[in-house]
Amino acid sequence: MNVLVTGGLGFIGSHTCVELLNEGHEVIVVDNLYNSKIEVKNYIENITKKQVKVYIQDVCDKEGMKQIFKENKIDSVIHFAGYKAVGESVAKPLMYYENNLISTFSLCEAMLEAECYNLVFSSSATVYGTPERTPIDENCRLGPTTNPYGTTKLFIEQILTDLQFANSKLNIALLRYFNPVGAHESGLLGEDPKGIPNNLMPYIVKVASKELEKLHVFGNDYDTHDGTGVRDYIHVVDLAKGHLCALNKLNTEKIGIDCYNVGTGVGYSVLDMVRAFEKENNLEVPFVIDPRRPGDVATCYSNPDKSCKELGFKAMKTIEDMVRDSWKFVENS
Ligand code: UD1
Repeated sequence: MNVLVTGGLGFIGSHTCVELLNEGHEVIVVDNLYNSKIEVKNYIENITKKQVKVYIQDVCDKEGMKQIFKENKIDSVIHFAGYKAVGESVAKPLMYYENNLISTFSLCEAMLEAECYNLVFSSSATVYGTPERTPIDENCRLGPTTNPYGTTKLFIEQILTDLQFANSKLNIALLRYFNPVGAHESGLLGEDPKGIPNNLMPYIVKVASKELEKLHVFGNDYDTHDGTGVRDYIHVVDLAKGHLCALNKLNTEKIGIDCYNVGTGVGYSVLDMVRAFEKENNLEVPFVIDPRRPGDVATCYSNPDKSCKELGFKAMKTIEDMVRDSWKFVENS
């Protein structure tokens, strides 16, 4: 199958390209390198020993997208491209709404013109806002979201729902990711955020490498087993495989549009992650306890039953794999 991957040189996109190529699919990437590097193309090719066709182009460029569909017979699309920094989205909401929504419009128009109907959309557990209950299942209330980034994901889910209603040939899987961490076991692909990281795992690795002095643990007075926040961390290679399960579903069944949690169903605290990282990598991660971060919830983890039953997806990697591979990528960079 020929799969177009928007944002295919980014963190989750690049890992998904590897899994697609390993399964024998042809991969066409469109990426504007806003948050990625062209070298990632070579890393993907080195790992898989296969070629990937890359267009350096903005997905917002509608005519450019139509041209990609004219030049390639595309069977399915996985749409990762988008801005994703929560803090930046609060400071620059228009930039987030413009980029994330316009790119989706332009992609969808090009898809419809080319009569390409299978789409996997990279959504997020952020659409649940402050969760109604945990574990979070797909029937939990959506929103209110807590930042413009999250709102773009929620809006896009709604827009795709309306579009599918109007164009019943569209077959769309919305994947709601929990907290992606880890890296490819080769050490070649991983997460490399610009500036001081906001997310836990990129921050931990920068403390371990002594680029940052210590980790600030945001609160130890939550109602959790050790007082620190609990999240559903999922290894990015597992997450990438989830996309193949979703594609497989779309190619064998007409689902219309449906949503699936992609998590492990297991919650780990901040201190669980720190301890696992220290133990597995034999490194120290000094930390201090700071006040709670505004907007954080105590506990957020998935009920993964629907993706297990309907997509045949199950995360296989352990917390040790996550912390080891995260470090290997940084050591290798
Ligand atoms: C955030 C985003 C989510 C996004 C995800 C990507 C919000 C509300 N949610 O989730 O939309 O998809 O990142 O992975 O922003 N922590 C520390 N110290 C740090 C960093 C984090 O103690 O320096 C703690 C947090 O308080 C939290 C846990 O680590 O308990 C995870 O935080 P983080 O990695 O930022 O992810 P989320 O906030 O869960």
